[in-house]
Amino acid sequence: MPAHPDSLLFQPLTVRNRTLRNRIVMPPMVSVRDITKPDGIEWYERHAAGGPGLVIIEATGVPRFGDDIRPETLRTVVDAIHRGGALAAIQLFPIKFGLNPSVADTTKADIRRIIKEYKTAVEICLEAGMDGVEPHGAHGYLLNRFFSPADNLRTDNYSATSLENRMRFGLEIVRAVRKTAGDRMLVLYRHTPVKDDSYGIEDSVAFARELIKAGVDILDVSPSSKDAPGDQAAPFVGLGAAVITVWCLDEPGRAAEALGEKRADLVAIGRALIADPDWPEKVRTGKRDTIVRCTRCNLECFGNLKKGTPISCTQWGKSGGKAVGG
Ligand SMILES: Cc1cc2nc3c(=O)[nH]c(=O)nc-3n(C[C@H](O)[C@H](O)[C@H](O)COP(=O)(O)O)c2cc1C
Repeated sequence: MPAHPDSLLFQPLTVRNRTLRNRIVMPPMVSVRDITKPDGIEWYERHAAGGPGLVIIEATGVPRFGDDIRPETLRTVVDAIHRGGALAAIQLFPIKFGLNPSVADTTKADIRRIIKEYKTAVEICLEAGMDGVEPHGAHGYLLNRFFSPADNLRTDNYSATSLENRMRFGLEIVRAVRKTAGDRMLVLYRHTPVKDDSYGIEDSVAFARELIKAGVDILDVSPSSKDAPGDQAAPFVGLGAAVITVWCLDEPGRAAEALGEKRADLVAIGRALIADPDWPEKVRTGKRDTIVRCTRCNLECFGNLKKGTPISCTQWGKSGGKAVGG
């Protein structure tokens, strides 16, 4: 009997010296819980236990490392994710999360400080046993703005006058991260492939090639469109890094199609894992009918994030689903 197409989701993948048990990734999602406190640790332990191969902890500002995030506090959440059987990575935000200064307001001294803070963050992640780090270069935040001609009005060697200059800040961060991590951690990078008013896929593919030379193991391409699953990630496959695709892949068949059509190596399932952390295990064990479905209402995930209260889901409590982490 031919293997069920969903089985593609459950093939292990080895990247550098780490093996993911399957192709399912929990993407970074700010939970409005403190990742060093019991509610945050419980949140990530619960999600890892649901079966993804990799959990990427939410966007976390690099200035926190060495301040309230120390190796011993971070290790508790890493251990919790490992107990659930997943690898643990963390998304590193270049400044305090939530801030988004203009490119022009970022001085060269700021750039130097941010790179130094990335190095400190990586050292602490290494001591805490983290498997990977992901500079956040997507979604119109600071690093993405440097890459984006519509947002980058500088006139120096980080300006948008050339692709080389637009790539510079992201590449400097990745080189510093890789140098600090050596071979001991995976380096990911989240990038938005197309910004209609600013840049297209060709520029992003050129950037990806340089990111890989600088040490990136996994390109986290965010988002794809609602059309063919993984469509926007496809141009990055085969460049030399594993590729994550994300966006509306909660139907297991759509996620498996992205892999089967070789539009990505890994699929990230975001809001659907908030609705039901057991999504991976339920698909694996043929219980997909029992999945508590995300309805894309965005009321208690994005909605709570905007209000600054812990994210949750309107579907919890339905179809046997239950609240996670308070
Ligand atoms: C509550 C919430 C918080 C998020 N926080 C982050 C974040 O910290 N960093 C990031 O790159 N994306 C963030 N995202 C985007 C997700 O990682 C993901 O790309 C998005 O939800 C689309 O995937 P989905 O359609 O499977 O939900 C967040 C999304 C949600 C719903």
